[in-house]
Amino acid sequence: MIKGALFDLDGVIADTSRYHFQAWQQLVQSQWQKKLPATFEQQTKGVSRTDSLQKIITFLQINVTEEEFNNLLAIKNKMYLRLLADLTPANILPGITTLLSNLRHQKIKIALASASQNAPLILKKLNLLSSFDYLADPTKVKAGKPAPDIFLEAAAGIKIHPQDCFGLEDSIAGIDAINAAEVFSVGVGSQTELHAANLLFATTNDISLDTIEQKFK
Ligand code: G6P
Ligand code: MG
Repeated sequence: MIKGALFDLDGVIADTSRYHFQAWQQLVQSQWQKKLPATFEQQTKGVSRTDSLQKIITFLQINVTEEEFNNLLAIKNKMYLRLLADLTPANILPGITTLLSNLRHQKIKIALASASQNAPLILKKLNLLSSFDYLADPTKVKAGKPAPDIFLEAAAGIKIHPQDCFGLEDSIAGIDAINAAEVFSVGVGSQTELHAANLLFATTNDISLDTIEQKFK
């Protein structure tokens, strides 16, 4: 029986994933007058800001000092926050509010397992803070997605065994992290990218708690 639900945020609860990539594009354009290929977006999805920037500078074959690296992270975050300025509950992805209330009715505990340090701010803007029993803090875990740490921390936070939880993700790194945590993985997106998910829905609007319960081990 399902006792816990572990949510990713960007691309699952709200369509903020594209803002992350827009901010990375702005950074790369303003600093080095270069453009990241669109295919690079999936490589940074679910990946912490530090690991994302590392991937970007490796891809662009650029060397930066530690101080410059930290400065670039701060600039990207400022750009990202600017893109979030007008975020309201209208930006909650279709089907998510219903899913959260169905989980609540069934007394299933709900935790956030996002890599984003901006997650509390975003949930506040979406008016969803009270929908969560626990927010796992990504700065407190050793390794980011695809490592299982944030999902294990989220399950521990709601005091539910990982194997009694399902995790919801839109990224390859996220599905790998859920699987590594031995949590039932539910993907939202394309079969090509998220084929490792135990169960897949094409969009958030297609997510059905009944289907998850039927397929859950
Ligand atoms: C999510 C996004 C990533 C982002 C990461 C860190 O996982 O999918 O694109 O890099 O969070 O977000 P932050 O808000 O802390 O920079
Ligand atoms: Mg995501």
